[in-house]
Amino acid sequence: MIKVGIVGCGAMGRSLASELAKVEGAKIVGFCDVSQERAMELANSYGVPAYSDPIAFVTHPEIDAVVIATPPFTHKELTITAAEAKKHIFCEKPMAPTTSDCLEMIRACERNGVKLMIGQVCRYYPLHRAVKENVASGRLGELISLFVYRVGGGFSGVWDVPWRKSRAQSGGALMEINTHELDFMRWVGGEVECVFAHGGNYVHSDWDYPDCAFVSLSYRSGAIGLLHSSQVSAIGGYGCRVDCTKGSILLPSFWGEGAKMVVRTADGEERSISMDELSERFPHSPVWQELNEFISAIREGREPEITGYDGMAAVELAEAAYMSIETKKPVAIPLVER
Ligand SMILES: NC(=O)c1ccc[n+]([C@@H]2O[C@H](COP(=O)([O-])OP(=O)(O)OC[C@H]3O[C@@H](n4cnc5c(N)ncnc54)[C@H](O)[C@@H]3O)[C@@H](O)[C@H]2O)c1
Repeated sequence: MIKVGIVGCGAMGRSLASELAKVEGAKIVGFCDVSQERAMELANSYGVPAYSDPIAFVTHPEIDAVVIATPPFTHKELTITAAEAKKHIFCEKPMAPTTSDCLEMIRACERNGVKLMIGQVCRYYPLHRAVKENVASGRLGELISLFVYRVGGGFSGVWDVPWRKSRAQSGGALMEINTHELDFMRWVGGEVECVFAHGGNYVHSDWDYPDCAFVSLSYRSGAIGLLHSSQVSAIGGYGCRVDCTKGSILLPSFWGEGAKMVVRTADGEERSISMDELSERFPHSPVWQELNEFISAIREGREPEITGYDGMAAVELAEAAYMSIETKKPVAIPLVER
């Protein structure tokens, strides 16, 4: 049984806890938050102890693995401290607000021989996975272009917290939100060699980073990608389209109403797959799947499906996009040598 401690008892910590409780081979043994009240609330509902000192918690002798669900600027210290104490680590996305922080986290885990998995959970969403499978199968030929848009009107409800307004603390929208899309675009299209982005802060003057951007990617394969990242859109949406040499994929929406995928070959054969159909293949939630993968990787002594390098690559694309927006020039990838 892998004994797991969860650090960070906010919106995501709660969601991770409820799914981890259903993963076979894992046992939640404690919760920690700098807010004693938040830690107590969750700990009481799971009947385990609450802690408020994160450093003591992630080095606790009774814990085999930690799930880190704190704001991004805290991930590096918690990960490195936990790794030095030989704990396996599941860390929420974005891995950290800078690529160099991510590399330090990876090195600490490698030095200490512990597993590190990053919560790029979109890889477990049925439609994201279906796009990946269709492109990887080669049935549609070679990838030419991948366009993803994720647009909305800013943070509301539980997501409207002060740290999200600071790029140093959250990584800004391109990391805090769009590491999901940048990871997806790299997962589907492969490694990127150049990022060219345009953007600015148009509406949210209390945020210190762009709230709208177009980020274009040049893949090493020669394919091209474009992300429309927006927090200034009264009409929200989250979709994508893919063109390959022998066919296309249109995804009007990744989730919610209208979530479906249309695949059409160049000779006109078309099929439409609804989210409901795909969901039958995946009876567990995406968060359950990622945590199950983390626990399975520890138990089987293998690398998890989503590594520290994957988490870092998504952060790197976002960081390159910020650099490109600031300099108005293309930015070559990688930013840091592996
Ligand atoms: N996978 C997803 O789709 C998804 C969705 C939401 C959030 N997240 C990620 O989860 C992480 C947390 O986001 P959230 O929405 O739960 O934030 P939140 O603000 O709701 O909760 C964060 C909690 O961490 C606590 N905290 C802050 N610093 C701490 C420290 N050093 N040690 C211990 N506790 C500390 C805060 O008191 C708070 O309770 C972020 O990295 C975020 O990007 C992922």
